[in-house]
Amino acid sequence: MLPRIVGVGVTPLSQGAAGAAAPTPTALILQALRLALADAGGGATSASRGLQLSDLDGLIALPSLMGSEQFMMAHAVAGAAGLFEARQGRRTIVRTLDVGGAGPVAALLMAARMVAHEGCGSVAVVAGDTPGSATLEEFLARADAACRLPGPEPLTRAAATPALASRASRSGGLAGGSGSSKSADTSGGGGSGVAAAADQWTVPSPVIPNLYDVIARWQMARHGVTREQLAMVASLMTLQASRHPLALQRRPRTVKQVLSSRQVAPVATALECAKRVDGAAAIIVASPAFARQHGLPEARAVEVLGGGEASGPPVPPADITDTMYASAAQAAAAAFADAGVAPGQVHYWSLYDCFPVCFIRALEAVGLAPEGGGGRYVERAYKAAASGDGGAAARAGGEGQHGLQALPPQDFPINTHGGLLGLGAPWEVPAMHGIAEAVSQLRGDAGDRQVPGARRALVYGNGGILSASAVAILGRCN
Ligand code: CAA
Repeated sequence: MLPRIVGVGVTPLSQGAAGAAAPTPTALILQALRLALADAGGGATSASRGLQLSDLDGLIALPSLMGSEQFMMAHAVAGAAGLFEARQGRRTIVRTLDVGGAGPVAALLMAARMVAHEGCGSVAVVAGDTPGSATLEEFLARADAACRLPGPEPLTRAAATPALASRASRSGGLAGGSGSSKSADTSGGGGSGVAAAADQWTVPSPVIPNLYDVIARWQMARHGVTREQLAMVASLMTLQASRHPLALQRRPRTVKQVLSSRQVAPVATALECAKRVDGAAAIIVASPAFARQHGLPEARAVEVLGGGEASGPPVPPADITDTMYASAAQAAAAAFADAGVAPGQVHYWSLYDCFPVCFIRALEAVGLAPEGGGGRYVERAYKAAASGDGGAAARAGGEGQHGLQALPPQDFPINTHGGLLGLGAPWEVPAMHGIAEAVSQLRGDAGDRQVPGARRALVYGNGGILSASAVAILGRCN
């Protein structure tokens, strides 16, 4: 009998309101935790009362970027929640896990291990952050600093190529003030063919989009991904988000609109960057015995069938090689082996999409597309959405003024919530949204986003600049 997800809580998303006091990450997390404890009971029609804080034997939190609680986040959250008082001296395990955006999936797997091997009946995983209510300058001051990490100097790192440095300065960066140029450099690749180089100390602000851009240009040069295919990812995610009740913006964007948005890096516009929003989420993992003891409804439980993790470099090195960014594929292979499930047995996929190249590589890593074929996979889906695909898209709803039609969930069973590019990205929280959507799909309550008959789902989280990968495979209990 496997550990299972018994409760999920997701707060509304927000970009901050003028004049309103910004929430703290911890306050949002406590809101999400209350929602998850109540959700474990199954809602108003259920006989179960849900769970109490005192029922939690463990709590795992992820660090926040914008909060002041930068030391032992999980202890800060547990203290603010009153967990230790509520536990009245019973053993409680509280841990902070720092693998960036891979955190929710890695923490889910850690929670499952705590339940399976450390004597915990139930463990909460929580994450929350507030980049949406920060000014762009406040956000970038922290986000840029977080990713100006030392590379492998002085042993193997080469200096930045002049080609990259000059492209980077042409794009200007937003802090540099000339970031409004719309003349995207679509040539792809660095000056030395497939070799791309990032000297993280000279990459302009915003640092994270510019670092992902190095990998995107490598992917273009190495695998023939086109500039338009990158933009199609962002467009498809806005189309997916248009059906999600928490989405702040429901207007799908076409490739043309994505490409004509503000240029942020040589091959990235603002619409191709994770959207800054405030938000928090919590999930509760429990043992089958605990769930039975507390009368939690079996029909809503989702088993953690297996998982895998792997890591890569903190920043793109001078020469990207074919094996350097293998962590997503390694984590996926480990997860499939651990769960005893093959890609063909997965019905729904939440794939991290902080930037289009992350999503394209994820399609290949999990086996939805062959190596180098992620761009073409995206193009086929976009063309179906743009053309109506012989009436298939029309079944899912009418065509809007934008000319795109929502794809039937069974034809594109990926990120039906819209991911980071459509729904939004509260720093390390987004893979929680991916888990929440997978749980919804497996419970069968995803409404017009429902993939019919979904019994198994895969969730992939990515941390840093493709630096940490975590994959979990989930399944219906009944
Ligand atoms: N939903 C849909 N669209 C949205 C949106 C939302 N919630 N919020 C904003 N948008 C749209 C805006 O309407 C705008 O569209 P137009 O260009 O057509 O007007 C576009 O997105 C950009 O919005 P803003 O102009 O408000 O942009 P901004 O002030 O936020 O700055 C940016 C743009 C510099 C690219 C900034 O958003 C940014 O730095 N994004 C990247 C954030 C980031 O790095 N996150 C981490 C990613 S890596 C990761 O996830 C791994 C990890 O370990 C954490």
